[in-house]
Amino acid sequence: MTVDKQQLKTVLITGGGSGIGLETAKILLESKHYRLVLLGKNRLKLEAAALALGGVSETVSIFTCDLRDSSQIRKVVEKIIGTYKGIYGLVNNAGIYPLGGLAETTEAIWDEAMSVNLKGPYLLIQAVAEAMSKNTEGGRIVNISSTAGILPNHFAFAYSVSKAALIHLSKTLAKELGKNNITINCICPGIVRSPLHETYHSSRSELEEFYLKRGGSFPLGRVGEPRDVAGAVRFFLSEEATWVTGDVFVVDGGRLLL
Ligand SMILES: NC(=O)c1ccc[n+]([C@@H]2O[C@H](COP(=O)([O-])OP(=O)(O)OC[C@H]3O[C@@H](n4cnc5c(N)ncnc54)[C@H](OP(=O)(O)O)[C@@H]3O)[C@@H](O)[C@H]2O)c1
Repeated sequence: MTVDKQQLKTVLITGGGSGIGLETAKILLESKHYRLVLLGKNRLKLEAAALALGGVSETVSIFTCDLRDSSQIRKVVEKIIGTYKGIYGLVNNAGIYPLGGLAETTEAIWDEAMSVNLKGPYLLIQAVAEAMSKNTEGGRIVNISSTAGILPNHFAFAYSVSKAALIHLSKTLAKELGKNNITINCICPGIVRSPLHETYHSSRSELEEFYLKRGGSFPLGRVGEPRDVAGAVRFFLSEEATWVTGDVFVVDGGRLLL
């Protein structure tokens, strides 16, 4: 299928250098409708991700930005909108997973979790909303929350609170931005194989054991793959989802049924 480059819809994916973000880029690229902009903190990681997508090209670009820094966010979004003459989609996927209950959660840990998982999405939405509202086809925003935002995870206080707030942020802004034909939907993944879990396990075999044990307890008998979530993102960006907004879509192999 040959696609007119002018027709490509620009989609910004935060945390596009790994895990769910990178898989989302892969699945969107397959449809040939999108120009993907991967955002991340780590340039080397983004370069490796771009390589996995066939290299930086007319349909894949990379931008570094630390989401803890609001001035970086504003500058990078301005640059992206200027370069591609607008923006169609934003996937707020970047996130961090600090462990700890009340006693272990220092103010710094709390602030960082809120900054990356909640304030980043708010600032990004604020930065893209005006440009999206100028599109004839409107705009699409997909926020990656977590089942922890519905049913708090054990020993993940700041994370669970940040992800619950992200769900409410999505619904609140879906109400406000509907008049501009901008949809905002939220996806809540359960446990998905990704680098997010790697830092919390001392070895690969321990991590595999964790996936096997937790996945085995779910109705569908396994943990998720990044592609399970990427497919849901693709739906919310597609023409089929034109009349869907404020949705909270759980992708968890049935975990929340337990
Ligand atoms: N995996 C799961 O089981 C699971 C379950 C529920 C929800 N989720 C959510 O899914 C999303 C994607 O996570 P993942 O599982 O795919 O893990 P991942 O591969 O670790 O992805 C997280 C991404 O966030 C980016 N990021 C973190 N801090 C950042 C910052 N300050 N500025 C810019 N980018 C930053 C990272 O990029 P850099 O390395 O460049 O900083 C990384 O690419 C997260 O929001 C996570 O909470 C995951």
